[in-house]
Amino acid sequence: MDARAKTQDLLLRRKPGYALEQAFYGDADVYQTDLELIWQTDWLFVTPMASLPKTGSYVTHKVGNASVTIVRGADGVIRAFHNTCRHRGSIICKGASGSVAKLVCPYHQWTYDLDGKLIWARDMGADFDPSQHGLKPVHCRVLAGLVYICLADEAPDFDAFAALAEPYLAVHDLSDAKIAFQSTIIEEGNWKLVWENNRECYHCGGNHPALCRTYPDDPSVTFIGEGGDVPAHLQAHFDSCEAAGAPSQFHISDNGQYRLARMPLKLGALSYTMNGGMAVQKRLGHVQKDDAGTLLKFHYPTTWNHFLPDHSITFRVTPIGPQQTEVQTTWLVHKDAVEGKDYDLKELTEVWIATNDEDRRVVEDNQQGINSPAYVPGPYSKIQESGVIQFVDWYCDTLAERLTPQRMAAE
Ligand code: FES
Ligand SMILES: [Fe+2]
Repeated sequence: MDARAKTQDLLLRRKPGYALEQAFYGDADVYQTDLELIWQTDWLFVTPMASLPKTGSYVTHKVGNASVTIVRGADGVIRAFHNTCRHRGSIICKGASGSVAKLVCPYHQWTYDLDGKLIWARDMGADFDPSQHGLKPVHCRVLAGLVYICLADEAPDFDAFAALAEPYLAVHDLSDAKIAFQSTIIEEGNWKLVWENNRECYHCGGNHPALCRTYPDDPSVTFIGEGGDVPAHLQAHFDSCEAAGAPSQFHISDNGQYRLARMPLKLGALSYTMNGGMAVQKRLGHVQKDDAGTLLKFHYPTTWNHFLPDHSITFRVTPIGPQQTEVQTTWLVHKDAVEGKDYDLKELTEVWIATNDEDRRVVEDNQQGINSPAYVPGPYSKIQESGVIQFVDWYCDTLAERLTPQRMAAE
């Protein structure tokens, strides 16, 4: 049985409301299906625009075997290309990020302009046509200072998400941001465990002493069910933030892939610091209400985010292997904010550095337990883990929808 048929059979016998079977969290065939039908099909958040500040700034990103270079051109436009040379295929950009004048292949020095055109290739003869050997483009969109790519030949619609998210993000002025700090950690767990853990706060009280100083573990803050009622205290918060000019209402897409809502922090807390005070004096964005809380945005499968009145934090999830996932966290502050004057780097980052490490540990423990022959999927709490149920339903429904036509075509 091939990988996709095997995955489909596993999906068909899934018990909704329960954790997934062991194979979903480590089997090589399921992982390959995830890569092809989710990761190489959907739009992926890859980096804040602040990591590409000038002409020639680039970031590389790997998804499965696909390596991509995202680069800012001389015209200011951010583009993405497959990081594989059109001569004999060598990768071109070897670093994770940097700045170049041109994209030069290290093997035989074929040289590409920042817009992907091949501009120099030595001794290729009179009949060689450079215009047929430009870098292969990858779909790339910039949304309010966040760069997304899509590896599919035909990208799914991005416009509906962009139209919804743009006004929420606009007040955070991410195009005025600089990177204060970036951390990249590896979690020894399947990417779906990273997400399941993110989508609930059932674990917060027992694991996140620093985060719990400011982040409420009220399950409705983590997730309001699709079509579910918004509790009155949250609706009052959304309304008061909107009155202050910050779009805040709860919105989830019809297919459950993305959600936006500006959620309150604990009473009196303004930002993710140990004492709940602002972390940055020179604010990023123009949210006028100090206690607006955090704009939560998730967009499966790559990103959850926190956008606060003083700074913003982006999170990027990338599968490395069936039981290995990278989580990159980027703290964004106003480009003119001065470290040591407007913010203290430790104060800005300590809550989420600790939280990420605590989450890494619980994900790794979860993975190890799932690998046991004794593992049996248990029930999710409908009260505490509705966000996990929502994620797992999105994953299973999305995969099932993409597998069905393929199987029918094969039969
Ligand atoms: S493989 Fe790139 S120049 Fe030869
Ligand atoms: Fe957590």
